[in-house]
Amino acid sequence: MKQQLEIIRQQAMQALESAETPAALEELRVKLLGKKGELTAVLKQMGKLSPEERPVMGQLANSVRADIEAKLEERKTEIYAAALEAKLRQEAIDVTIPGKAVTLGHEHPMNQVLQQIKELFVGMGYQIVDGPEIELADYNFTRLNIEEGHPSRDRSDTFYFTDDDSLLLRTQTSPMQIRVMEKTEPPICILAPGRVYRKDEADATHSPMFHQIEGLVVAENITMGNLKGALVTLMKQIYGQDAIMRFRPHHFPFTEPSCEMDMQCHKCHGTGQVDGQVCSTCHGEGWIELLGAGMVHPNVLEGCGIDPGKYSGFAFGMGLERMAMGRMRINDLRLIFDNDVRFLNQF
Ligand code: DAH
Repeated sequence: MKQQLEIIRQQAMQALESAETPAALEELRVKLLGKKGELTAVLKQMGKLSPEERPVMGQLANSVRADIEAKLEERKTEIYAAALEAKLRQEAIDVTIPGKAVTLGHEHPMNQVLQQIKELFVGMGYQIVDGPEIELADYNFTRLNIEEGHPSRDRSDTFYFTDDDSLLLRTQTSPMQIRVMEKTEPPICILAPGRVYRKDEADATHSPMFHQIEGLVVAENITMGNLKGALVTLMKQIYGQDAIMRFRPHHFPFTEPSCEMDMQCHKCHGTGQVDGQVCSTCHGEGWIELLGAGMVHPNVLEGCGIDPGKYSGFAFGMGLERMAMGRMRINDLRLIFDNDVRFLNQF
């Protein structure tokens, strides 16, 4: 029996030494110390021993058990330490690997131009105002002196919400003139940028949604000279001091007199031709149309409770995309809305 116990101890030590996982350790614990284990099996034979041998064997069995338990504990600690070590090694972070570069975006080219225009007008004392894109036909047309049946009211040009054509997506920023004038005593000096909508197929120069910038100045003694001063200042700022402009008579229902402002084509310098070919930028016109403008019609002033005998004003409306395209030499309007970074990165 003594021999049996010594064999158990020796084999247990070897087996425990070579166990490499917590599961293998647990298996050995059951095999050696469990109710059906080897040590228990030996102890069951104690009854056959003489009374003198019994305590001696009992002591030996206890020492074997204690050794096994101590070894189990030791291996457990070692195995956990090794596992932790391996895990740490596996999860090690190489702090010397270069990080992924974070590429910062920048303002959209159209917003760059908008910002430039806003800053210029704020510098001249204009206030920036904002208004609804879902607009009453009353503000978008009627109160701008645009009579029933006018072609711009046509259902094929305008997005209406209601069968009675009373509610629509604004087709221009000009209704902001009414919204400001009906609430504000002159002097008025505002700039109203925003989105507008028309039933246009998208092509190089059209989009069903685009941006306009409306300007309005109403005070005593405002003349066409003030209008010219403001707009020439703007265009020289945007297109350079040597940009050549012209004002051309036109008609808008809400201004009288009305005009359009053109810039001499920067590509063909007004000749309409480049290398014997029709200039692709101005289509041979020699001029590029920039905006509509005029002196606010007395009917419009009166409709907003402003006395046209005392006050006069000018207004203008320009397409922001068109301004950005001219400023940044962009030849297709759709590029502005596609948001392709290969395009955007160029600005
Ligand atoms: N709203 C006009 C358009 O969309 C542009 C315009 C013309 C605005 C004359 C004005 C103006 O304020 O006075 O075509």
